[in-house]
Amino acid sequence: MTRPGLSRRAALAAGLSLASAPAFAATPALRAASLRVLAADKGVIFGAAIEPEAVDSDFGFETLLRRQCASLAPENVMKWNALRPTRDGFDFTRADRFMAIAHDQGAQVHGHCLVWHEALPSWVEAELTPRTGRALLTDHIARVVGRYAGHIQAWDVVNEAVERNDRRPDGLRISPWFKALGPDYIAMAFHAAHAADPAATLVLSDYGLEYDDESWMVEKRGTMLALLRSLKAARVPIHALALQGHLIGGRPRAFGAGLRRFLAEVADLGLEIHITELDVDDRKISGSLDRRDGVVAEIYRTFLDTVLDEPAVTRVTTWGLSDRYTSKAGMFPRPDGQGVRPLPFDADLRPKIVVQAITDAFAVAPRRRARR
Ligand code: G3I
Repeated sequence: MTRPGLSRRAALAAGLSLASAPAFAATPALRAASLRVLAADKGVIFGAAIEPEAVDSDFGFETLLRRQCASLAPENVMKWNALRPTRDGFDFTRADRFMAIAHDQGAQVHGHCLVWHEALPSWVEAELTPRTGRALLTDHIARVVGRYAGHIQAWDVVNEAVERNDRRPDGLRISPWFKALGPDYIAMAFHAAHAADPAATLVLSDYGLEYDDESWMVEKRGTMLALLRSLKAARVPIHALALQGHLIGGRPRAFGAGLRRFLAEVADLGLEIHITELDVDDRKISGSLDRRDGVVAEIYRTFLDTVLDEPAVTRVTTWGLSDRYTSKAGMFPRPDGQGVRPLPFDADLRPKIVVQAITDAFAVAPRRRARR
């Protein structure tokens, strides 16, 4: 089957010898598709994570978001260190601005994140104890989820709860929340979020679940499945698992049958599956921009082909939309000093071959029943 997808030029530039790579039909000139429309045609909500200031200062980016995204996620403004400058003071300024932007754009919101071991303000360490921890956790969630109840359709309730290197039999991360409250902090968080907004889809999010040829990821999948089963058995109000989807460009990496099987097992628990932080770290990819973009696009395409085959996958969110605003620039810069290119649109807000790859993945994806 001739697979629509990368142009011959991009495929060659990506170092894909056409003999080995899937047949790439020469595609028409790259069209700036509307990813939100293409995704919606298959019952998937496509979106991106943003910082409100980037939208307020950049009309071109605001316009791009409006055309491309049916959902927006707050990259940082709803984390503890943004909302809680002091123990008793909440600052919702930036979060409210983010919500106003989403409303203006007619976009849904995927809230991020209520409980995480990172992005905690310095005062939390002294305050988070076995005696105070439950109230600190549940009051925070009640206040934040309650403020936006009815306006945030999905919440990353607990982020990155699994860390096998902490050597616990249950594979849980020994985070500040775990130290203060034990494993039950997870259930506490979900119950508090559900009480504050019964209509919201509640999500457990983590990274390192994507690749079949990374043994630690395969083991983490097993740990995650056991955790999900225990939460469901305890009737915890959890509705979805999020694979963050921070993918890695460089040596060929495999996501395929193992990932498909994992997603099917998650779906069999009655859970939705969200891809919530999709991007491709391209710092290890050498060569021309065309070649780099071609390799990145191929990764987007093969990952999305795999996950979109699973009908339980209902949301795909990229961690940023344009290379003009990506945290990877600061967190994972390229050794050669060139700009990183992890996202669908370049720093000039132009569609890269990645947009073609996402477009083609949605084109061949099976339709699923649209959810809330
Ligand atoms: O806004 C301040 C700025 O005023 C200050 O001058 C600057 C230097 O200190 O820091 C700025 O805040 C930074 C913020 O990003 C906004 O750029 C924080 O230091 C920095 O820690 C923060 O990093 C974020 C990181 O999570 C930690 O919260 C990244 O932008 C964000 O992309 C990243 O996202 C995480 C997800 O939440 C969870 N999954 C992994 C993902 C990638 O690490």
